[in-house]
Amino acid sequence: MQVFSTVEDFRKARTGFADLGFVPTMGFLHEGHLSLVRRAKAENGAVAVSIFVNPTQFGPTEDLSSYPRDLERDLELLREAGADLVFTPDVDVLYPQGFVTKIDVAGVAAEMEGRSRPGHFSGVATVVTKLFNIVQPQHAYFGQKDAQQCAVVQRFVRDLDIPVRIVVCETSREEDGLARSSRNVRLSAEDRLRAPALYRALTKAAEAFQAGERRTSVLEQIMSEELHAGGIDVVDYATVVSPDTFLRPDILSEKGLALLAVKCSGVRLIDNMLL
Ligand code: PAJ
Repeated sequence: MQVFSTVEDFRKARTGFADLGFVPTMGFLHEGHLSLVRRAKAENGAVAVSIFVNPTQFGPTEDLSSYPRDLERDLELLREAGADLVFTPDVDVLYPQGFVTKIDVAGVAAEMEGRSRPGHFSGVATVVTKLFNIVQPQHAYFGQKDAQQCAVVQRFVRDLDIPVRIVVCETSREEDGLARSSRNVRLSAEDRLRAPALYRALTKAAEAFQAGERRTSVLEQIMSEELHAGGIDVVDYATVVSPDTFLRPDILSEKGLALLAVKCSGVRLIDNMLL
């Protein structure tokens, strides 16, 4: 496994590989990230992983400075998972002085995370575009855990004719259903016990959908009640959209995507489930 922190060095090493799978991350890796790396390894000749806590996707009051980091441990986990190339740039490598360009995605990026975190998806789209240009992968792997991020990336890849295929991988969960996240380590012991209410709320909505419920507001109500019953009081959104458009119809047709964002111990948790 080779590790590089400059664009030039990474590009030189990249020429040694024909078909490359790519997993962009912000580090503090867990089983969710590693499942993406293993899938990329199985489906490509080689795998590149980036570790970069991207400042432009954090709002001014968000947790950039407290975002967990442990590069040595991450590199050890990536070695075990079979990564071939790792890109670990510093902030001034990707955003040198004078940097002024932004990619803004409308439509799918507008609501939910886009509304609650102004600028977030512009930061994601800009850094992922840069990473695609540097890494030049054939396939890039993203987690369904961040469903709206997947939709945003798929949208700008199509709009900008970026020659990469996006592969969406299923959400990796703890035994009790909590979606794995680098931020989970910052939950208090009490809130860690409360947090599986997200999964229960999504499961209840999915059960109601399967039983024939198509009214968005009723499915949303079911989720809100389950969150409150589980002691989660700060709910940013508990909503249901069409997975293709990320728009919220009053009545769903054959598919739906339930999405949640809450705060626990001051930690923002998101999760979702296809109905
Ligand atoms: P990060 O939160 O580190 O996540 C990196 C990738 O791992 C994302 O595609 C995310 O959806 C996926 N992932 C996280 N938790 C997962 C889980 N429990 N199961 C499956 N996949 C999971 O997402 C980002 O970083 C950044 O926004 C990034 C795309 C790197 C741009 O900065």
